[in-house]
Amino acid sequence: MISEALQYAATYPATEAGFRPFIRSSVSLWSRANRCSREWAEHEANCLAFVADMLGRMKRRRTAVVLGSGLLRDVPVEEMAKAFDTVVLVDLVHLASVRFRLKAKRLRDVRLISRDLSGFDAALAGHEVEPLAFLRQVPYLNLVVSANLLSQVGVGAERRLKQDGPTGKADILPQLIRAHLNGLAALPCSTVLLTDTGFR
Ligand SMILES: C[S@@+](CC[C@H](N)C(=O)[O-])C[C@H]1O[C@@H](n2cnc3c(N)ncnc32)[C@H](O)[C@@H]1O
Repeated sequence: MISEALQYAATYPATEAGFRPFIRSSVSLWSRANRCSREWAEHEANCLAFVADMLGRMKRRRTAVVLGSGLLRDVPVEEMAKAFDTVVLVDLVHLASVRFRLKAKRLRDVRLISRDLSGFDAALAGHEVEPLAFLRQVPYLNLVVSANLLSQVGVGAERRLKQDGPTGKADILPQLIRAHLNGLAALPCSTVLLTDTGFR
């Protein structure tokens, strides 16, 4: 409880105001990951190995982007930072512990961006949903890893609909999932999709 409070307090000032409401769920994820580390270990090891294998097979390594970088448990960020000129980590929130780890490892060419990758607001407004369109502006992009984000896009959107969204909009959930997959498929670079496919 105390460590969660410290994590929250240290993350708050480093987080833009618009993303502060999401700090709580990132801290909960951090807590859960510590509690369930044994159960999650195999999945995390598989993810790390899959991305590392991809790196080994890539010739051009200028810029890599990780979508849903979170706690950096399932992406080999040190290896990526060594392999690429620039690594961009995108998530709603970057916890203080994650920032500290990057500093401690002196990973200077790793950039952090806070961004909602769901497309929820656009979908709700009836606009075209292209949550990954911003990646077109990233120069020399060679690799994009979607790091166990896909199901969370659906979970987060469902929560927001239940909390304060209009009723009768449940059809935007599959729309957001499709938009993520289509966005990844349309990228002119290597892509990795790490995702859970079931829930128990
Ligand atoms: C299951 S965790 C992935 C963990 C992470 N890849 C790691 O290695 O620890 C999902 C991550 O996606 C982020 N996320 C969920 N919804 C998001 C959204 N709409 N936009 C950006 N990131 C989101 C969460 O904050 C969380 O860090």
